[in-house]
Amino acid sequence: MSNTEKGIQITLIDTDTLPSLPNKTLLESIEAKNIEVPYHCRDGFCGACRCKLIKGDVDYTIDPLAFIDDDEVLLCCSVPLTDVTLKLE
Ligand code: FES
Repeated sequence: MSNTEKGIQITLIDTDTLPSLPNKTLLESIEAKNIEVPYHCRDGFCGACRCKLIKGDVDYTIDPLAFIDDDEVLLCCSVPLTDVTLKLE
């Protein structure tokens, strides 16, 4: 079952709520709504896409190399498993 079929929502604090697109990373789903988010490598390496995960669970599509705290996620290489609430940095 894809993310859309499950109806997973991405809530960006102070910005918008949008659907998670099937087989897309958080970064790709957010970009699809024309919301600008910082990124550089798009490969879990640089940490530029780091943001706070306020609520929800994500899974990584690759093993990220960038350092993140327990309450942070890398948008470029993660997909939501549940509805998520994020605070962009
Ligand atoms: S854009 Fe480099 S870690 Fe996500």
